[in-house]
Amino acid sequence: LDNGLARTPQMGFNNWNATHCSGDFNETMVKGIADLFVSSGLKAAGYQYVNLDDCWALPTRDADGDLVPDPARFPDGIKALADYVHSKGLKFGLYSSAGTKTCNSAGFPGGLGHEKQDAALWASWGVDYLKYDNCNNAGSTTTQQYIDRYSAMRDALAATGRPILYSLCEWGVNNPWMWGAPVGNSWRTTGDISDKYSSMLSIFKKNVVLAPYAGPGHWNDPDMLEVGNGGMTDTEYRSHFSLWSIMAAPLLIGSDIRKATPATMSILTNKDVIAIDQDPLGVQGTELSNANGLHVLTKPLSNGDRAVALFNENATAAAISTTAAAVGLPKAFGYQLDDLWSHKTTETAGTISAVVPAHGTVMYRVHAGGSWWAYPPAVHTNASLP
Ligand code: GLA
Repeated sequence: LDNGLARTPQMGFNNWNATHCSGDFNETMVKGIADLFVSSGLKAAGYQYVNLDDCWALPTRDADGDLVPDPARFPDGIKALADYVHSKGLKFGLYSSAGTKTCNSAGFPGGLGHEKQDAALWASWGVDYLKYDNCNNAGSTTTQQYIDRYSAMRDALAATGRPILYSLCEWGVNNPWMWGAPVGNSWRTTGDISDKYSSMLSIFKKNVVLAPYAGPGHWNDPDMLEVGNGGMTDTEYRSHFSLWSIMAAPLLIGSDIRKATPATMSILTNKDVIAIDQDPLGVQGTELSNANGLHVLTKPLSNGDRAVALFNENATAAAISTTAAAVGLPKAFGYQLDDLWSHKTTETAGTISAVVPAHGTVMYRVHAGGSWWAYPPAVHTNASLP
């Protein structure tokens, strides 16, 4: 969506994966997350949006037809919470659904038919981001019905005059990548992620082939991060974070970082990996090969470098290998490989390879032109070019 927002994939927090609708989802939690964004370096690393998911409202609208924040969870209301988040130099997001009710079985009110009223209310509260779901959608089946429901809210948000990032939570059922670019800033490409390696892997495989549809202002969304929720190993979480970054996915932290381990924080704040996700060229990485579960992915970067991820989906360690030429780098006398997880730099004449642990990912930024001493002038002849 050409609204000036999400020129690189959105980064922030959403409570859903950590809390669903449990009582932990409340004002104290959200304020604590906003505080931590500042104190723990997440804000400095680029995370910006603090977003509430389903269950923030009461099941019934008020006499004026307005949505009402649940006073048990949010005793000071949503505007006061948004003000608090803004006071930290952060942005604030909310959730609703393009249907009569949201997705939770308790049946909170959806936005269908209330688009203008809801958008105006959110804008008056200072909302900067809307995640708009697809439940209870009045039995819509045709693609045009999907487009119409989502476009109605797009137009209502635009009419408020407030910049509001618009995240379509259409779970890939009606191929939102085919029609989403003029409608929203991102669209879900799959069903809900869960905190399991198998779930992360299957979502990765569905999302990675959709690279041609992504770009600045309109991204494929393979759902929010599970890093830190405890159902995967740190090696698997590093793969999750690496793959989402090379796919230029939105990076929405989905764990309660008030309880994060040092390993979780170091994954989420890895600035070198985040820089791959946030590269201003805005190209989603693609898969060069995936024979026997050994994946090679590459993403072109704005300064001419290439990101390369070597992902081993199998349960035993394996060597994965590609070349500088295969990932699209120009001919050069050598290449510098920055390992974005070990933070070691090596040089190569052209081979890019590593022994990758089970379920692990080795991720490089590859730069054409090694250091001069590694390739003395005597070998600098055209014939020696790889
Ligand atoms: C759907 C969405 C989830 C979450 C829940 C809330 O399942 O895909 O991300 O927002 O609804 O009920």
